Amino acid sequence: MIKRMLFISVLSFSLFSFKPEKDTQKLINPEIEAKITTLLSKMTLDEKMGQLNQYTSRWEMTGPAPQGTNEQQMLGMIKSGMVGSMLNVTGVEATRKAQKLAVENSRLKIPMIFGYDVIHGYQTMFPIPLAEAASWEPELARKSARIAAVETSASGVQWTFAPMVDIARDARWGRFMEGSGEDPYLGSLFAAARVKGFQGNDLSANNTIAACVKHFAAYGFIEAGRDYNTVEISESTLRNIVLPPFKAAADAGALSFMNAFNEIGGTPSTANAHLLRDILKGEWNYNGLVVSDWNSIGELLIHGVAADKKEAARLAITAGSDMDMEGNCYVPNLKKLVEEGTVDIKLVDDAVRRVLRVKFLLGLFDDPYRYCDENREKTQILTQEHLVAAREAAKRSIVLLKNDGGLLPLKKQGQKIALIGELAADKDVPLGSWRAKAIAGSAVSLLEGMRSALTQPENLQYTKGPIYVSGKSLFTVPLEFNTTDRTGIDEAVKAAKAADVVVMALGENCFQTGEGRSQTDIKMKGLQQELLEAVFAVNKNVVVVLMNGRPLDISWMAENVPSIVEAWHLGSEAGNGIADVLFGDYNPAGKLPASFPRTLGQVPIYYNHKSSGRPFDGEGNVFWSHYTDAPNDALFPFGYGLSYTTFAYSDLKISSPVITKGERLQVSVTVKNTGKVAGEEVVQLYIRDLVGSITRPVKELKGFEKISLNPGESKVVNFTLDENDLAFYGADNQLKAEPGDFKLWVGPNSVEGLESSFTLK
Ligand code: BGC
Repeated sequence: MIKRMLFISVLSFSLFSFKPEKDTQKLINPEIEAKITTLLSKMTLDEKMGQLNQYTSRWEMTGPAPQGTNEQQMLGMIKSGMVGSMLNVTGVEATRKAQKLAVENSRLKIPMIFGYDVIHGYQTMFPIPLAEAASWEPELARKSARIAAVETSASGVQWTFAPMVDIARDARWGRFMEGSGEDPYLGSLFAAARVKGFQGNDLSANNTIAACVKHFAAYGFIEAGRDYNTVEISESTLRNIVLPPFKAAADAGALSFMNAFNEIGGTPSTANAHLLRDILKGEWNYNGLVVSDWNSIGELLIHGVAADKKEAARLAITAGSDMDMEGNCYVPNLKKLVEEGTVDIKLVDDAVRRVLRVKFLLGLFDDPYRYCDENREKTQILTQEHLVAAREAAKRSIVLLKNDGGLLPLKKQGQKIALIGELAADKDVPLGSWRAKAIAGSAVSLLEGMRSALTQPENLQYTKGPIYVSGKSLFTVPLEFNTTDRTGIDEAVKAAKAADVVVMALGENCFQTGEGRSQTDIKMKGLQQELLEAVFAVNKNVVVVLMNGRPLDISWMAENVPSIVEAWHLGSEAGNGIADVLFGDYNPAGKLPASFPRTLGQVPIYYNHKSSGRPFDGEGNVFWSHYTDAPNDALFPFGYGLSYTTFAYSDLKISSPVITKGERLQVSVTVKNTGKVAGEEVVQLYIRDLVGSITRPVKELKGFEKISLNPGESKVVNFTLDENDLAFYGADNQLKAEPGDFKLWVGPNSVEGLESSFTLK
């Protein structure tokens, strides 16, 4: 893991420069530890097990229906101190009521901690995490996580199951939308930023919430992109690609981690001592708590590594899983396991200590109701200020993929615009999957956003086109896509004919993405492609606004349609944010956090792949690593994104062709705005380690800076690289830089750029 992240300095003015924390927050406060020791000495074994037990409320669920306890039994258990935490209890009234049961009835009055999946906003919805990563502004993610924390904490909840930091390379996976894409460096910055946002500067303030870094680990590497499936991953890929964002989040002080559902090479993550004991709690000296995923301890039986729940409990606690979410494995079994000497009480005590530590750090022992403030609940959720931030985040997450002929920006007057597609008027889809307490249908639609931006709204004609999908409930799977009813296509074609320019909203319903929403196909579903082709046949001035939660196969569109705007699922203010971009009130500057394939057959596809012994030379030879029916490269590569202006890169300089260990390499490049409008550019630095003790990726992102330039203006952007930035886990599994030759590029994406080279002696 890159312990000390790349230090980037920009001499000139720069926007949103972000430096990850260098210091590991160990979460240890001697006073609190002493209090925990005293409390532990008073606790019975039953009470200890209770602290390791987490139940969902029975009225809201985010996983399969739990078995084993009915509501009455659960309430009884809370009263007797047998429930340390609950998830899915929200709102001041409900959390206060539940907390009262625990602290007024249980012998030791230990408060419960309430957790909830606040993934991209509580009620004010921000762009889905994948979209926010496209801003390449970790500071933006910090701010949105901060606002999410303010709203969550105002509703009585003090723990979010976020950030999700899984690296994803397979667009079939529905949970692609929940993470920051394919790159460990970008992913690490966003992981740390989100932790900082949720947890704020002062854990004892009542508007901070505990972060939970998930899913530990390698969940994004499931076979064939099918959710919950098996993972085979090498130790090298695990350490060099998958774990860096987790480490960055731990270093940023994350109070908790969550297990992953998947096995790795035969061992489910929940029972994986190598991950939890050796790496997380060992090498990283992590002192936060590890919660299982929903019944993932119980699922050890179904995986087939435990014959019964008792064995599952033994495996999980031994491996280092501290809290049992909805598995009902610890409470009925841990006591027996300890009494018969199968599980050392020290393991249980350590797990309980971690749970209590989080509760103490959040101030719950000082006041168990400190998050229960009706006034805050009324005044701090879905505020105007939060919506303004959501709009800012929305527009900054948009990626301009194509703009041939300068069709964009659109004119606010004097241009007849046909807006086509069900998604354009949809006020729900932009809220995205994993939407916490979003009010259904509360997003600003694209239609609304465009109407309010236009000086002459009468110039905008909206036509729905054919029905896209029926059945939008969270748990309706699979969604039913309309492939037969063509009603609406003719009308759309008519509207297109009469317009100067056509804007089409196409892509995915938000519930095509998220947990349990893997797909074997990443083309647009239903009749969308047919609609697009019918419209394009009568009017070539088409701007597609894509709404989606994963990279899509949009090859036909990219080949034919002049303008494509990647607008993801952008949250509460989606329509306004998109309109800001479409009409040029904001010049888009997002860059893709994941490669877009030309065809699903290329998946998994990612820019930081290995060379292979036979990299394709593009000359049409046979015996090289390539496809005979498609190119190797991505349709739109990682880091790619256009602007309404253009940027020229020149004058790449390095301070020396050779650096020795301990020395720093200064890199500088001049970037000029060569277009007619002001714009922002994400200047990206990549390296390649040419020879290593193990093979190295053909490119690795090691730094970036988002700068703002007026027309004609130039800036010199400076980067500094040192040995730590070149370090990786090599053949001996140790993190270190290996001497040798490196290539270096600075440019606008992972494919283009000025090139240089240097040697580490
Ligand atoms: C998901 C987790 C989530 C948990 C609680 C699980 O199904 O994998 O990411 O935090 O449910 O809702």
